[in-house]
Amino acid sequence: MAKTTISLIKADIGSFPGHSRTHPLILEKAARMLKEQEGKLLIDSFVTHCGDDLELIMTHTRGEDDPEIHALSWKVFTECAKVAKEMKLYGAGQDILSDAFSGNVKGMGPGVAEMEFEERGSDPVLLFMADKTEPGAWNFYLYKIFADPFNTAGLVIDPQMHDGFIFEVHDVIEKRKIEFRTPEESYSLLAYIGAPSRYVIKYVKRKDGIIAASTSTQRLSLIAGKYVGKDDPVMIVRGQSGLPAVGEIIDPFSIPIIVAGWMRGSHHGPFMPVGLPDANCTRFDGPPRVICLGFQVCNGKLIGPADMFDDPAYDRVRARCNELADILRAHGPFEPHRLSLSEMEYTTLPAVEKTLKGRWVPIKE
Ligand code: F6R
Ligand code: MG
Ligand code: MG
Repeated sequence: MAKTTISLIKADIGSFPGHSRTHPLILEKAARMLKEQEGKLLIDSFVTHCGDDLELIMTHTRGEDDPEIHALSWKVFTECAKVAKEMKLYGAGQDILSDAFSGNVKGMGPGVAEMEFEERGSDPVLLFMADKTEPGAWNFYLYKIFADPFNTAGLVIDPQMHDGFIFEVHDVIEKRKIEFRTPEESYSLLAYIGAPSRYVIKYVKRKDGIIAASTSTQRLSLIAGKYVGKDDPVMIVRGQSGLPAVGEIIDPFSIPIIVAGWMRGSHHGPFMPVGLPDANCTRFDGPPRVICLGFQVCNGKLIGPADMFDDPAYDRVRARCNELADILRAHGPFEPHRLSLSEMEYTTLPAVEKTLKGRWVPIKE
């Protein structure tokens, strides 16, 4: 049987009010356009949103980076941007950074996570979609899921996982990549991925080559050369039968960690796991949030979704995130709520500094 590919491609093409949520008409338009391709380019599709990001979930047999699949996503985003412009939605067309499509949406604004695999007897897949944060936000969770035996019992007691995993890490500034093998190189891996604004885990594979996780690593400001919001990443994780169990994959989201993004892409804030009805950014344009849809993949068909964080088991982390939000918000314009100066280079702050440049005079000692 042909291998199955899951393509999860997203873009912010406009929202309401402000940067908070995608409009129902946009979701409907995107869903219709993908449905038309089922039985043609696509096997199956599902459309949703996290905050102001339109998320296209597509299955097919064409592999990663397929020009036709990327062209289809591009067409959906540009057509939906037209609808957004007609309604004067906020930031209409925001993530469409170029008019000239050249076969791949990477580098043109949208975020892309894709995974091609041979379907096993039964294949559970979890799709994570975030708003108001950056791709490196997944680093912490991927480490916990695939390298921390205090999170993933299978690393200790499942012989198929006992040898560990391989992490492919991208340096998004220098545009280079490296692989680390765990558990033997965990400390070297952590030396890099602990700096998530620069080092981002792109893929995780089991040591026998089975693909387990794939993320989006696009950083818009680095592509556009100016501030264009944060990059609101997506991630695909496969589970069970020699890979971490579904419950091991979502358990680390019960820890309230702090990520970069939030208001104006310029603040640290708690990363809140929410169900689909709460996938709308509100307080201070946030807080940063993440949804998780679970599917069984059956000959390319998506059986589901299950709304994984729509569960009282995640109430406590949400309450703790709200506590953290209060503490960080109380800092107002001060660090560490505001990002460090090196990260603020990619925001609108340098434009303010430029207007004050001439006012500075040297200190004579
Ligand atoms: C964050 C985000 C928003 C905007 C903010 C200001 O990624 O998109 O927090 O940065 O609403 O938007 P403008 O400058 O368009 O008024
Ligand atoms: Mg927006
Ligand atoms: Mg967004």
